[in-house]
Amino acid sequence: MATRVIVITSGKGGVGKTTSTANIAAALAKFGKKVVAVDADVGLRNLDVIMGLENRVVYNFIDVIENTARLEAALVRDKRVPGLYLLPAAQTRTKDAVNQEQMIDLCEQLKNFEVQDETTGAISHFDFILLDCPAGIEGGFKNAAVGADEALVVTTPEIPAVRDADRIIGMLESMGKSPIRLIINRLRPNMVNDGDMLAKEDILDVLAIKLIGIVPEDETVIKSTNNGEPMTLNVESPAAQAYLNIADRLIGNDVPLMDLQAYASRGFMQWLRNLFKGNKRR
Ligand SMILES: Nc1ncnc2c1ncn2[C@@H]1O[C@H](COP(=O)(O)OP(=O)(O)OP(=O)(O)O)[C@@H](O)[C@H]1O
Ligand SMILES: [Mg+2]
Repeated sequence: MATRVIVITSGKGGVGKTTSTANIAAALAKFGKKVVAVDADVGLRNLDVIMGLENRVVYNFIDVIENTARLEAALVRDKRVPGLYLLPAAQTRTKDAVNQEQMIDLCEQLKNFEVQDETTGAISHFDFILLDCPAGIEGGFKNAAVGADEALVVTTPEIPAVRDADRIIGMLESMGKSPIRLIINRLRPNMVNDGDMLAKEDILDVLAIKLIGIVPEDETVIKSTNNGEPMTLNVESPAAQAYLNIADRLIGNDVPLMDLQAYASRGFMQWLRNLFKGNKRR
């Protein structure tokens, strides 16, 4: 199988790109794939912390680009699951420490990298390279996106985030990325039912790209971020399941969307109550 290079991006910041990268990478590894998650957010690195690997970072990808470290030395292998690697970002450099040609070259090096299977010893290549992108539409975004073939765009169900996602989708399309698929993060079904949050249909209407998954608002995300353990490794929660499903769909399996209504039964009750109130008024 040829290596698939996927950028995880968004227009608006703070919508869950790094959370998505860590959890999808861990889920893919759990499904037996060889995965490297690249922190392309130079200067604001976070992926190492969310993956719980910050204490093992020695070199970063700028060292590799500048030939002060070999790729093999910069890659951090996650010992909790076979086949999962992190390529960290530099924290003390700015985004202009790297240009587009260098990022393309880095992606080529990663595609050619020989990964050894931890049980059989067999040599193969990465199945997936996931690039965690900085927010915005500036140089950092272009650097991260340039080496990728496919894109996952993350948005929350809020109008500013959706509008910025629309802008980024236009840019990804003009860069020739395909497929470009959408992750809706932090959806609260009870708020959707109350008409206080955009529904999946509203967002898809505006953005007109294919949905790959919906991740509900879930406090286990915050817990796992603070513990440095991607949820998909061993947490049972709605968000963990949503990310496992997204990874499964990325591999090509046909997994139905989760029934978020069942999860948000309080929201459903609210919806019933509202209906009842409406009947009484008539
Ligand atoms: N589904 C979720 N439920 C609850 N909290 C979440 C969820 N997704 C993300 N968060 C929280 O939102 C915050 C931002 O997430 P994250 O760092 O992944 O976003 P980002 O898009 O990478 O941000 P930036 O643009 O700064 O790189 C974090 O504190 C994270 O724990
Ligand atoms: Mg981030």
